[in-house]
Amino acid sequence: MSSNKKLLILPGDGIGPEVMREVRRVVDWMDRRRHVSFNIEEGLVGGAALDAEGTPCSDETVERAKAVDAVLFGSVGGPKWDSMPFDKRPELGVLRLRKDLGLFANLRPAVVLDALVDASSLKPDLVRGLDVMIVRESTGGIYFGEPRGIHTDANGKRTGIDTEVYTEGEIARVARIAFDLARKRRNKVTSVEKANVMQSGRLWRAVVGEIGKAEFPDVELEHMYADNCAMQLCSRPKQFDVILGSNLFGDVLSDLAAALTGSLGMLPSATLGAVDASGRRHALYEPVHGSAPDIAGKGIANPCAQILSFAMLLRWSFGMEEDARLVETAVENVLAGGLRTADIMQPGMARVGTSVMGEALVRELDKLSA
Ligand code: IPM
Ligand code: MG
Repeated sequence: MSSNKKLLILPGDGIGPEVMREVRRVVDWMDRRRHVSFNIEEGLVGGAALDAEGTPCSDETVERAKAVDAVLFGSVGGPKWDSMPFDKRPELGVLRLRKDLGLFANLRPAVVLDALVDASSLKPDLVRGLDVMIVRESTGGIYFGEPRGIHTDANGKRTGIDTEVYTEGEIARVARIAFDLARKRRNKVTSVEKANVMQSGRLWRAVVGEIGKAEFPDVELEHMYADNCAMQLCSRPKQFDVILGSNLFGDVLSDLAAALTGSLGMLPSATLGAVDASGRRHALYEPVHGSAPDIAGKGIANPCAQILSFAMLLRWSFGMEEDARLVETAVENVLAGGLRTADIMQPGMARVGTSVMGEALVRELDKLSA
């Protein structure tokens, strides 16, 4: 019985707080039935933090995030803050946490569950059994590169600048995460860049190739231009196992892959830092969907992605593989049983709201562990 698992929960904006409530049910269930206890703190991030603290992520929140074992993050942003100045956007909350905690590897699984094959925009045969893992670099590249900004020249003409920069160290460490993961899956990495037009892409291709050859000769490595990868994801997605890409390409391709599953409301993600000398690493877990302001407060959001993010947290931050699988199986079974939130509703299924879905998951957990 261990009680020192420290979590910081940051529900954020929009549907974040609603879906996080359902995670709390699962956490409570774990406390009761699996004899693990979590020490949970809550904090503000995004628009909620802007309103209360004048910044999308305060220094104090960053310090608290560093002090815990894992952060469970909801989602940020909404129309209320659309007119905020660029340096006060709610989105900065998550960008700052990634950067300040050194969370350089963003793992985004795109999995098509059997029960949801028909929800995909692609033909069922193309996506049945699809299981792709996107590994996105998340503290470098064009998101943070300097110089950046909008400059006005003497004639009043403006120029917008962003800079794509990658050091070989940044490429190597995220490549190792991708190769490691591939070994536990189907042993293949597809590394994407635009080595045909970008210098940082040339370096990316070279470094990933070197790491593969020297440290992971047993893993199949394929290089692909990012635009081609987008096309291949839409035409033959099952050829992929692990896709490795920069911050920007990973951002774009992970949305595309998510759309293939037909259920953004189902997809979790993990963002991991380096393992330190004591074996610990900073980590943040969040659903791939955003704050969905259009449905916020209506009690109809799908809590599954947030709950599956908690399952990833169990696996990656605490090595609780069995418990993670239990939560994932509960989600699969509840869907197979015909319950659907609005985002994944299909003919003949029973449409339920956020909390009914959460309750059903807890009942399924009871059943699975009886
Ligand atoms: C994501 C989002 C973020 C990103 C935004 C909200 C800053 O699109 O996590 O994919 O671009 O990284
Ligand atoms: Mg994105």
